[in-house]
Amino acid sequence: MDFEATSRQALEEIARCADASSLRAVEREYVGRKGTVTSLLATLPTLEPRERRELGRNANRLKQVILEAVEARSAELAAAEVQARRSDGSFDATLPPAPLDAGSLHPITQVTRELEDLFESMGYAILDGPEVELDFYNFEALNIGRDHPARDSQDTFYCGPDDHLLLRTHTSPVQVRAMQTLTPPFRVIAPGRVFRNEATDATHDHTFFQMEGMVVDRGISLAHMLGAMKTLLRKIFGLDPDVRLRPGYFPFVEPGIELDARCPFCREGCNVCKARRWIELLPCGLVHPHVLRSGGIDPDEWSGFAFGLGLSRLVMLRFGINDVRLLLGSDIRFLEQF
Ligand code: FA5
Repeated sequence: MDFEATSRQALEEIARCADASSLRAVEREYVGRKGTVTSLLATLPTLEPRERRELGRNANRLKQVILEAVEARSAELAAAEVQARRSDGSFDATLPPAPLDAGSLHPITQVTRELEDLFESMGYAILDGPEVELDFYNFEALNIGRDHPARDSQDTFYCGPDDHLLLRTHTSPVQVRAMQTLTPPFRVIAPGRVFRNEATDATHDHTFFQMEGMVVDRGISLAHMLGAMKTLLRKIFGLDPDVRLRPGYFPFVEPGIELDARCPFCREGCNVCKARRWIELLPCGLVHPHVLRSGGIDPDEWSGFAFGLGLSRLVMLRFGINDVRLLLGSDIRFLEQF
């Protein structure tokens, strides 16, 4: 028997069947009690062992292919019949209900929950902070005074005429709120939405997610911080991703570090990384003594580290999304993929 040709012919016949009875007839013709494939399988015991093995394998594979095709076509025909009865306008209480579209968790929610589980398992508490924030928490208490040039790097949406209320530009104000309410030692993370009044592109949106982290304890060093950063990245990417560290300036940490991830979308530079081949992901540093003091903590006794993960960018890297604006674009075709 030419298995290839028989398989092709059977699949064509199955696809042509327009109702259940013709489908049953085709099924009988090939794999019924007296069907072609069944009869062939019945001859196996009379063959030489080598021949038997080869023929048996081919015939069983053909049988499997035919049975699967029959089952798939049968499901198609049944669905088409239900659809026809549903759209003929009359009411039929025996019809199965139309399938409901089940939603799924947004990729940002998925990654946030994974990180919350991870940090909770390491003894961190999860904090929340207001999205409409006071200038004091967003800037002043973080060593960014009225005229500090660092304000320029976080273009701010102010609410109201006197500029003291704003949409938080980062999750760092939760650091200050944590220091005011908790007694050291403590470890916290604070995922949340932040806002910046800036032009958007593939890695910049006006509304995006960050996750703040802060540890205050005795004798905290950069080694503790890098250990936590590595654990975080390993959890999300499964193995150590390609990252680089470089000095970074943030008035509320000293020293400050920028941790960049290698762009997964290119080798030589693309519009996502703007030809830099690296994407800024996870700035961090040791908490500045002034900041500890403005949170009511004595820097001679306590020290700490903090990080400000670009959560939206982490989600991009994790799922291979090449434009951050898709995340909050509400396009159902995009969201259905998760
Ligand atoms: C900050 O926001 C600091 N608060 C981070 C920090 C916290 C440093 C604690 C030290 C200690 P920066 O402006 O670089 O830093 O933003 C942090 C991360 O947010 C960036 O690395 C990037 O991943 C992400 N990010 C920044 N701007 C945008 C944007 N417009 N859209 C999407 N992600 C952004």
